[in-house]
Amino acid sequence: MSEMDQALVTEKAKPSEVPQDLVYQVDGLSKSFNLPSGDKLRVLNQANLDVARGDFLLIRGQSGIGKSTFLHILGLLDRGDQGRLLLDGQDIQKLSRTARARTRAEKIGFVFQFYHLLPEFTAVENIMIPGKIEHGPWAWMKKKKEANERARYLLDLVGIVDRADHRPNQLSGGERQRVALARALFNEPSIMLCDEPTGNLDIKTSEAIHELIAKLAAETSQTMIVVTHDPSLENYASRVLDLTDGGFVEQGTKPVAD
Ligand SMILES: Nc1ncnc2c1ncn2[C@@H]1O[C@H](COP(=O)(O)OP(=O)(O)OP(=O)(O)O)[C@@H](O)[C@H]1O
Ligand SMILES: [Mg+2]
Repeated sequence: MSEMDQALVTEKAKPSEVPQDLVYQVDGLSKSFNLPSGDKLRVLNQANLDVARGDFLLIRGQSGIGKSTFLHILGLLDRGDQGRLLLDGQDIQKLSRTARARTRAEKIGFVFQFYHLLPEFTAVENIMIPGKIEHGPWAWMKKKKEANERARYLLDLVGIVDRADHRPNQLSGGERQRVALARALFNEPSIMLCDEPTGNLDIKTSEAIHELIAKLAAETSQTMIVVTHDPSLENYASRVLDLTDGGFVEQGTKPVAD
């Protein structure tokens, strides 16, 4: 069976019942990296976590503990070695590469720790990239005008529509992060994964980005998972978790803010 056939078979598999409308069910998830010395670095060790639809999760933990690795696995950018990871009831660890890419484009908006904007493209063009990936080059030709309008709308939403035609090296750090947020929102994802969205920004700009993220979380039914060292975002989150020794420790919960 080719990989494409495999992907279709896996995709048609009926998702199992999803209790309590859970978006993610992480069950005994482990992940190690092979070090040049030949040793293994165990980053996740049978981690467990349930995430309900509409949750606003904040994940903390010391540098190098595995926060980005975990977020990459949730975002289908990497895989765990062992354990189960269900997204909307479907075991995403078992999906083929093609099916994973499609699921990612349909459901997930990812804001990377270091922006990852493409330097040769303008802000508007960077924001349209997820649409291009989702639709493929032919369908994209027809959608381009509409996509351009949506990208400008999102730039307006994040407050920098006047920078639409700037390339990343013509933008400040805070402006780049806003472009990265707008790009993550482009396909209207049901899940937003943000890795240190304000890690490289000053306090005032960080607060503005936090307010923007909180506004997005409150105004949409999106599930928001944010990795941060910045305690000021804790005011907005419904759950705060610490990643320690390869697993999660829940620090507090409160209802999602209206
Ligand atoms: N591809 C890789 N190969 C080997 N080791 C890796 C790889 N990616 C990450 N690591 C190691 O795994 C550990 C976890 O990395 P990760 O980037 O997830 O940490 P983090 O919690 O996000 O840290 P920070 O707060 O500094 O961003 C680190 O010790 C890192 O050096
Ligand atoms: Mg990180």
